[in-house]
Amino acid sequence: MEFDELLGLMRRRRSVRKFKPDPVPDEYIEKILDAARWAMSGANGQPWEFIVVKDKATIKKLAEMHAVNNRRNYVIESTRVPEMRHPSYLKPSEGLPGFATAPVLIMVCADPRVLQASTIPFHFYGGGEGGPLGTYYKNIANCTQYIHLAAAALGLGSQWASVNNSWEPQIRRLLEIPDVISVHTIVPIGYPDYKVPPPYRRKLQEMVHYEKYDQSKYRTEEDIRDYIMELRRKTVQSYDVKDK
Ligand SMILES: Cc1cc2nc3c(=O)[nH]c(=O)nc-3n(C[C@H](O)[C@H](O)[C@H](O)COP(=O)(O)O)c2cc1C
Repeated sequence: MEFDELLGLMRRRRSVRKFKPDPVPDEYIEKILDAARWAMSGANGQPWEFIVVKDKATIKKLAEMHAVNNRRNYVIESTRVPEMRHPSYLKPSEGLPGFATAPVLIMVCADPRVLQASTIPFHFYGGGEGGPLGTYYKNIANCTQYIHLAAAALGLGSQWASVNNSWEPQIRRLLEIPDVISVHTIVPIGYPDYKVPPPYRRKLQEMVHYEKYDQSKYRTEEDIRDYIMELRRKTVQSYDVKDK
């Protein structure tokens, strides 16, 4: 694959938050998961495991749990002024339809015991690596990213649905996941049911420094706050999918 083709795929991949009911062929799911296992991981530990969920009743139950979690998130997020609020929570919300509409979910799970593959000194230091847990999450994020890219390469849409501790234990119970394995991200996959709006990205020259940190590009606290407000205005359309 040439660079332009790779960049084209990366630019084409978009977060999709509402899906058509059309099923995704099993061989596509297998291809996606086969791609995922080629992701980089610290010490090549490969801590990931995937649960493929297609059963409609299970997806419905997961979507209900997600809705409860989103109602809770709304209460917390609504303590911010609307200009700073995440666009999903501008009004009381049970979350976006992506989750419930997807024909298939890939539950990205991982086994933290595999961190033993890394060197012992690594467990003593935090620093840029963020310590063992930092590495663990980076491993899983790398693998999740491959899932999204592989789905895009097959003409499919995908969503990165975060799982947090407020509902992860429920998911584990529902899917009979052993205690030691944790669930990190749910990736709903399917064919987009709306025209996904163009993405926003910061300009390259704003984020690149040569040889040393270019102080003229340093953003103050106020710059960051203004950036987030501007970001909200630029990304709100990506979450406005309910009535499309
Ligand atoms: C760590 C992480 C967590 C995310 N969590 C969610 C999520 O819970 N729900 C969601 O719809 N998108 C989620 N996203 C997707 C981002 O919102 C999305 O990648 C970003 O807005 C850029 O849009 P794009 O994916 O269309 O380029 C997450 C992405 C990452 C990397």
